[in-house]
Amino acid sequence: MSHTVIAIVASTPRPTLAIGRSLKNDMPWPRIKSEMSYFSRVTRRVPPVPTNSPFKYSNAVIMGRKTWDSLPPKHRPLPGRINVVVSRTASSTTPTSDEIWVGSIEEGVRLLKQKFPVPTVSSSEESSLSDCGGEPVVALDKIFIIGGAEIYKLAMELPKTSDAYLACILHSTILQPDYSSEEGVDVFFPAIDENQWTKGSVDRLIEVTGEELEKVEGIQEEGDVKFEFGIWERNL
Ligand SMILES: NC(=O)c1ccc[n+]([C@@H]2O[C@H](COP(=O)([O-])OP(=O)(O)OC[C@H]3O[C@@H](n4cnc5c(N)ncnc54)[C@H](OP(=O)(O)O)[C@@H]3O)[C@@H](O)[C@H]2O)c1
Repeated sequence: MSHTVIAIVASTPRPTLAIGRSLKNDMPWPRIKSEMSYFSRVTRRVPPVPTNSPFKYSNAVIMGRKTWDSLPPKHRPLPGRINVVVSRTASSTTPTSDEIWVGSIEEGVRLLKQKFPVPTVSSSEESSLSDCGGEPVVALDKIFIIGGAEIYKLAMELPKTSDAYLACILHSTILQPDYSSEEGVDVFFPAIDENQWTKGSVDRLIEVTGEELEKVEGIQEEGDVKFEFGIWERNL
């Protein structure tokens, strides 16, 4: 079974698409609480399963090692999601079921599918949680590519035949202030080629994220920051 693979990013507007400061290994803007809550809700949201189901869904987030390092240790692995970290060299000192280190995005997707297979309808109908006598088994739902620049670039270059082929980009555009011109801002999202990607409607954004219209429509404001939620979909 193939899983939907979605990139999720916050950046300054096109064409700059600034996402970070390499020296500090952080984002160009201070914490934008409502944008971070959106990220958390969207990357955690899974389809419901019947009560007493022998399995429950979980999404996975795939990130580069530097993005992993940028997370405060008390917030990693990101809770409620299977965390996959891509690195050429490092590996996990304490591997757990919600933290997996891999050498490529595709290896990550392969492992996720192997470790968290989606049960077939008949096997899930035949058994219930009481039959299994324990915790529900985790089944993979969506896969989110959460950065940084190196990992977004690798993901966007994967061919259509890949299991990690990106279906869409959830793009929060930070409109104001203009962080792209601030000192130290030097990490960028890859250019979005309009031969390959088309900006989707708010209805599509709602469909893909499961968000309510009031939460994602129009320009959002938090303190001095103005931003908007959007979606780019891959052309067929
Ligand atoms: N605005 C946003 O939405 C957003 C989201 C995420 C991150 N960011 C920002 O982006 C910056 C970090 O991005 P980044 O591009 O510097 O780093 P990154 O993509 O997070 O991680 C880079 C690391 O990934 C591993 N890697 C890269 N290519 C690889 C390959 N072909 N095979 C295997 N492993 C590979 C390497 O790890 P090893 O060195 O361990 O080998 C490399 O150092 C930070 O400023 C962060 O705050 C912004």
